[in-house]
Amino acid sequence: MTRVAVFPGSFDPMTNAHLDVARRASGLFDELIIGVLNNPRKAPLFSVDERVELIERCVADLGSHVRVAAFAGLTVEFAHGQGAAFIVRGLRAVSDFEAELQMALTNRKLAPEIDTTFLMSALEYGYVSSSLTKEVARFGGDISPMVPDPVAAALIGRMAEGRRV
Ligand code: PNS
Repeated sequence: MTRVAVFPGSFDPMTNAHLDVARRASGLFDELIIGVLNNPRKAPLFSVDERVELIERCVADLGSHVRVAAFAGLTVEFAHGQGAAFIVRGLRAVSDFEAELQMALTNRKLAPEIDTTFLMSALEYGYVSSSLTKEVARFGGDISPMVPDPVAAALIGRMAEGRRV
């Protein structure tokens, strides 16, 4: 039996906590598809294509069984399309749990045959979030402990562009 999982998220941008979860999941599943949500109602810092490309660079060493794909609409539909029976989500702290439980139960109602699996990110990344990383970058703080190198470079570049306009 081939175990296929999707790891959905906004990934605007991918952080070290996300990458840690992707790395752990890559050891558990035969195929892992990192799904980047294209949400037209949000205005992300990075376009969906930029986010996909950045993640591809970050996960290049995880193996060819790890892929990155953009998706729109429901996560369970994306999972169906990829032939996945599992959704992977990361938990950093207890504070993540309530929202994640609600999402997992909603997804179970929509697609009872798909299970959500939770992986704890490493303790050292418990504080890391995409939104706070963007804020730190915006004010010139050191983001190197929070995001993989390609993301740090892209963030610094994007903030510099923002200051020029
Ligand atoms: O990285 P995020 O923003 O915490 O990820 C949230 C995400 C993308 C997993 C969630 O918003 C989602 O699944 N969106 C797709 C729409 C959907 O399926 N909604 C119903 C179940 S929550």
